[in-house]
Amino acid sequence: MSPIARISTLADGLALPTVVVPVTFEDGVGLIDGSVPGTIGEHELPRTLTKEWCAQRGLLSEPGSATVLRSVFGTSVALVSLGVNDGALESYRLAGACAVRCANDASVAFLVPTEEIERPREVAQALVEGALLSTYRYKGGSTEWNFDVVALGTPLPSVAVHDAVSEGVARGAVVADAVNWAKRLIDAPPASMPPRELAREVADRLEGESFVRVEVWTEPKIKDERLGGLLGVGEGSAQPTRLVYAVYDPQPGASLPHVALVGKGVTFDSGGLSLKPPASQETMKTDMTGAAVVMAAVSMASQLELALRITAIAPMTENLPSDKALKPGDVLTIRNGMTIEVLNTDAEGRLILADGLCLAVEARPDAIVDVATLTGAQRVALGDEIGAFFATTDQLGERLAAASALSGESLWRMPLHAAYETHVESDVADMKNTGKAGSAGMISAALILQRFTDGCPWVHLDIAGPARSDVSRGYTTKGATAFSARAIVAFLEACANDAARS
Ligand code: BES
Ligand code: MN
Ligand code: ZN
Repeated sequence: MSPIARISTLADGLALPTVVVPVTFEDGVGLIDGSVPGTIGEHELPRTLTKEWCAQRGLLSEPGSATVLRSVFGTSVALVSLGVNDGALESYRLAGACAVRCANDASVAFLVPTEEIERPREVAQALVEGALLSTYRYKGGSTEWNFDVVALGTPLPSVAVHDAVSEGVARGAVVADAVNWAKRLIDAPPASMPPRELAREVADRLEGESFVRVEVWTEPKIKDERLGGLLGVGEGSAQPTRLVYAVYDPQPGASLPHVALVGKGVTFDSGGLSLKPPASQETMKTDMTGAAVVMAAVSMASQLELALRITAIAPMTENLPSDKALKPGDVLTIRNGMTIEVLNTDAEGRLILADGLCLAVEARPDAIVDVATLTGAQRVALGDEIGAFFATTDQLGERLAAASALSGESLWRMPLHAAYETHVESDVADMKNTGKAGSAGMISAALILQRFTDGCPWVHLDIAGPARSDVSRGYTTKGATAFSARAIVAFLEACANDAARS
């Protein structure tokens, strides 16, 4: 059970144990909007808070910093910083998370002066996203309480603004719920979330979504469909391999834009016979993040009623050593007939994604987006706060960069440097699955994937670093992050809106 976000009246909000008043900053001085009541409970709220008063209490121009004016019996007031008043959505996400922290697992009302807000729907969505994402715990589960959003005007917001806030609250709840669902799948111990279980969890959720059809492919079907990369990687594990194929089509027959999503679903990556050292295996249950993220995106698209078609494909397997496991030197034939020499069994993601991309191409989408915790090189290059993406067209690249900025999930574009194709040449097959040692490993992995996209406009996300966080920070919780799920939904929304305009 997670907290419930809702839009609320000022009177109802003021009855909750904690009321949050946002503070903006100008030259270090804190400002409280005129629409906020001058007194809440026993606390008087002046319109300006001096630099010294704020600094003493740790209320700073850093969004998400706060101070709580406590009340033993009545309402406590949390003053939460939105930073300089630039309307940045990220400030509202941080403020939402901060409000939850100040409220200590009890109901809280967040007052939102709407008069200077240009995008009330987006602001409300960001606030609720930040609040609810921050409540995720794998262990213990959160208790039930309310996160009330109170839209203020002078004295009331217009009907249009009220409706926009209300819609934003609902959307924020949809997004946070799907992302937290994905985090829970990823954080589950690998023994309780093998491919079969992951596929079942995904099918269970998606079967309940409007306009979504979902198929779970078992091994006979995967063999019939000649998914040689997926079968090869799965061979080493006693756990049966799966592939989830989901389609969201809200207007069958209409010519909606069509995006294919492909997600890497390695439920545990030991490295296979090219075994990883113990420390590197510790977090490898996270290697199914791509699959969880793309399926969460389908769930969100349906609940947000986005006007586009999505084909989502997630190959799911374990990568383990055994007497049946792939051996360095083995050659696999991917669905499209191309062959890959496996020189390192730990470079398994590209093998299963190759098959997934072939299936995506066959669905004839306008664009393909794949998501994978693909290379350690990605984490080395960008750390655990920034994902990498590659795009075959500037239009797609710009659209993804815009979605990244809007969602607050940082993604940095990398080059598909064609000259590095030589890094993956093989003497016995069409390519090998490793690049040149110590040289652009993130790019060679992307170049291998590109060979399976058949010229279809394509974006590849490598999120090996940000898929996990080793600390809770802002609205990001420790452990699985389901990173890029929100950016992908923003991207899908842009695709849908663009088509609606033209
Ligand atoms: N799942 C890993 C990538 C990874 C590493 C994700 C660290 C998260 C954190 C992937 O399957 C892998 O092992 N890649 C190898 C490829 C190499 C053998 C060419 C890598 O990056 O070391
Ligand atoms: Mn691996
Ligand atoms: Zn892997």
